[in-house]
Amino acid sequence: MRGIRQHVNPLGLSFMEVRASPVARPPGVAADAPLEVELGCADADFSFELAGKHPDWWVVGLEIRERVLERNRVRAQEDGLKNLSFGYVNLNVDMDQVFAAGTVDRFHLLFPDPWFKQRHRKRRVIEPWLLRVLRRQLRPGGELHFASDIYDVALAAMAEVEDPSNEALGFRNLAGPWSFWRGNPFDAASRRERITLRRGQRVWRMRYVIP
Ligand SMILES: C[S@@+](CC[C@H](N)C(=O)[O-])C[C@H]1O[C@@H](n2cnc3c(N)ncnc32)[C@H](O)[C@@H]1O
Repeated sequence: MRGIRQHVNPLGLSFMEVRASPVARPPGVAADAPLEVELGCADADFSFELAGKHPDWWVVGLEIRERVLERNRVRAQEDGLKNLSFGYVNLNVDMDQVFAAGTVDRFHLLFPDPWFKQRHRKRRVIEPWLLRVLRRQLRPGGELHFASDIYDVALAAMAEVEDPSNEALGFRNLAGPWSFWRGNPFDAASRRERITLRRGQRVWRMRYVIP
């Protein structure tokens, strides 16, 4: 993406204030439409593909880089995708502002950057606050789908979700405890996933469902 910053520091001062707001359901999307959300979507290839293949679903891409969001909104309009929305979030700061409790069918956290700068937490992407927020916003039976090309990042996320202190949240690993899901069970792939597979590298994927 020329002219758009590739990275921002989500812990930079300008990103620490609460700026996110609820994403409005587009007119024409049914109130009971399944809601699929891509977290840190960048160019949102995954969301575009999902929205195109499932016109009855509402698909939302969330991102910290505003200019990427603007570009995605233009592309969605050009593609005539009325069931695809985009919104600002800093996942470390204001994810709790975006959706009401019990409204999201599936969160997709795909190939996230390792966000934390402190050395010991560098690769920790799912931190306890975010995990609780996502849990609250999921519908009963909802899912948290995670994928990364970096084994340590995936393992750190798994360690967080499956930590005994989080047992009460009720996330169940669909592949069995402490196991990765093989293959991509969805009919869409993100840009980063395509690049990873083209390079012959492995995707480390987990799927967690709640009761
Ligand atoms: C490596 S890209 C992956 C993009 C896409 N999900 C894929 O699989 O191709 C990670 C994205 O997460 C965004 N991001 C990083 N930290 C974030 C945060 N704290 N809140 C929201 N988005 C963030 C980055 O701006 C970047 O676009």
